[in-house]
Amino acid sequence: MTSANIEIRPAIASDARKLNRYVRHIFATSEHLITRPHEFASGPFRQRMWIAGKATNPYETCLIATDGRDIVGMIDSWTDRRERVKHVTTFAMSVHPDWHGQGIGHRLLNSFIEWVRGNERLEKIELHVHADNESAMALYKKCGFVQEGVRRRAIRYNKNDFTDDVLMAYWPNSSGVENIEGE
Ligand SMILES: CC(C)(COP(=O)(O)OP(=O)(O)OC[C@H]1O[C@@H](n2cnc3c(N)ncnc32)[C@H](O)[C@@H]1OP(=O)(O)O)[C@@H](O)C(=O)NCCC(=O)NCCS
Repeated sequence: MTSANIEIRPAIASDARKLNRYVRHIFATSEHLITRPHEFASGPFRQRMWIAGKATNPYETCLIATDGRDIVGMIDSWTDRRERVKHVTTFAMSVHPDWHGQGIGHRLLNSFIEWVRGNERLEKIELHVHADNESAMALYKKCGFVQEGVRRRAIRYNKNDFTDDVLMAYWPNSSGVENIEGE
């Protein structure tokens, strides 16, 4: 199976078991995520509730990449409902290690950007990325995201081993100064 046959679509309730298995695998194998495997307690039932929450919230989404049998990637977003920040949405994403480097992350992120563009309330997309996550930062820059800030040594791998948390952002409906690095 090649990545050309991968479908990108919103998660539905019946994806819960597979999504739960996928997320567990990602937490167990990815070096650059905050959540450690033992900190992820959801089972398929809670995963189903979580998917339902995304599906019924007009300002949040969960998109999955699937080969028709397994889930091979996902992106999910969350949005504060308070008046002064409700134009901003934040996301996290991953691709199964077996499928890295085949364009699935790029397709997932483009699909998410299109979804935000079609949303009448959302104007700005934000993300957090570990400063040593070179592949993710390259993907985000390629899609137009620019760095807005750095939380120094905000992530601790081991006692004396830290990395910075980089905040990046993109305004999908603007070609203006918002998306120019350093403005
Ligand atoms: C980051 C991640 C989502 C990228 O997904 P992917 O499907 O492998 O990425 P793609 O194949 O779509 O690559 C898109 C772009 O990302 C960049 N990229 C991907 N892998 C890279 C690597 N190993 N080194 C440098 N850049 C890389 C490149 O700019 C690439 O574009 P190009 O192929 O035209 O050069 C994936 O590596 C992943 O799931 N990592 C573990 C979880 C994680 O770190 N998530 C991000 C948390 S902020």
